[in-house]
Amino acid sequence: MDKKLMGILLNRVQNDQYDDISDKTCEFIKAFRQQGPVVGLDIYTGDMIDLRRKYSGRYRESEIKFEELDVLFMGAVGQSSPYRVTALTNDMPEFLALYRRAQKCGIPTHNPYNVVQDFISKQYLLRLQQAGIPVVPTTAVKSLDHLLSLTTGIVKPLVSERGIGTEVTSQLTGEQKEGLYTKFGRGDFYGTTQGLIHQPYMTGFTERGERKLMVVGEDIVLPRIHTLSGYEGNGKPIMAWGRAQTHVDVNPYEPNKKEVELTRDIGGWLSDNGYNPTFYRVDIVTDENLNPYVSELEILNPSPATEDFIYAGRRDLVDQFMSKLYNSINC
Ligand SMILES: Nc1ncnc2c1ncn2[C@@H]1O[C@H](COP(=O)(O)OP(=O)(O)O)[C@@H](O)[C@H]1O
Ligand SMILES: [Mg+2]
Repeated sequence: MDKKLMGILLNRVQNDQYDDISDKTCEFIKAFRQQGPVVGLDIYTGDMIDLRRKYSGRYRESEIKFEELDVLFMGAVGQSSPYRVTALTNDMPEFLALYRRAQKCGIPTHNPYNVVQDFISKQYLLRLQQAGIPVVPTTAVKSLDHLLSLTTGIVKPLVSERGIGTEVTSQLTGEQKEGLYTKFGRGDFYGTTQGLIHQPYMTGFTERGERKLMVVGEDIVLPRIHTLSGYEGNGKPIMAWGRAQTHVDVNPYEPNKKEVELTRDIGGWLSDNGYNPTFYRVDIVTDENLNPYVSELEILNPSPATEDFIYAGRRDLVDQFMSKLYNSINC
């Protein structure tokens, strides 16, 4: 296979105090560079980032143009900044603009644009559910009155990440529900419909952990489990992930047969529906009988840069993953 020039999206921190590329990102870039030439791209401007300073990269701005890239890897990697969170929904206009620019120049993106467009919103949960795939039971919140009438379970925005806007319904006052509805209840988010969905509160998240199975091509890679090791909530239901009062442990994890089958079914559903992502993550929560349910599909940004630290000491597995990922990009 020919070596291709790959652009990776980097979250450059635009402040003198912070280095623009974290050590972990460098590891990620290095692993890709073992496979072929790589150039970094600023998510905000689409400009090439000079990678030489930290690890003697070959390219800099003046030497290479956007149109010369063979492929764009669109998962944002890099350290978050206190000034601008690296969540993709915060950077959506710039992110989508880069996709459009790549399309215009005929540069393939990883993952394809149609997949990204349709998976910005958690609407896919309703579609999976309708197709008979076990999903955390999900219903759309139709109106403010509907939200006000809800007393159980949780609500979360269709477009969101890191648990932003996800709340335990019984812990919300009427006023807070109104606030939530105003912010996330409806509207358009850069071409995607915003809204709220309602789900039962799944104790599996806190009691048995959230399983995260990354998929490259057909294979599950570096699966991990996020378990709650502590929280200050006096026994109240909580959102396990992304909250200041929680502490979450992340560990390597071996998925069981049911989870592997569910992940395979999702792969089948994706291709049956015209989606061909080669890299995504299936997040799973279990019930008390250990039946798996999909809680989320992360196709925009499966966050590969964190895996080497979870699989510390397993450089072999990380390298294997990186080479699989690289080959999936080139196919
Ligand atoms: N139905 C649910 N029951 C209990 N906790 C939930 C439920 N849905 C989400 N959570 C908690 O909220 C977190 C964020 O929800 P998730 O669906 O993963 O959205 P995102 O990661 O995009 O914000 C999960 O990691 C989990 O801890
Ligand atoms: Mg999540």
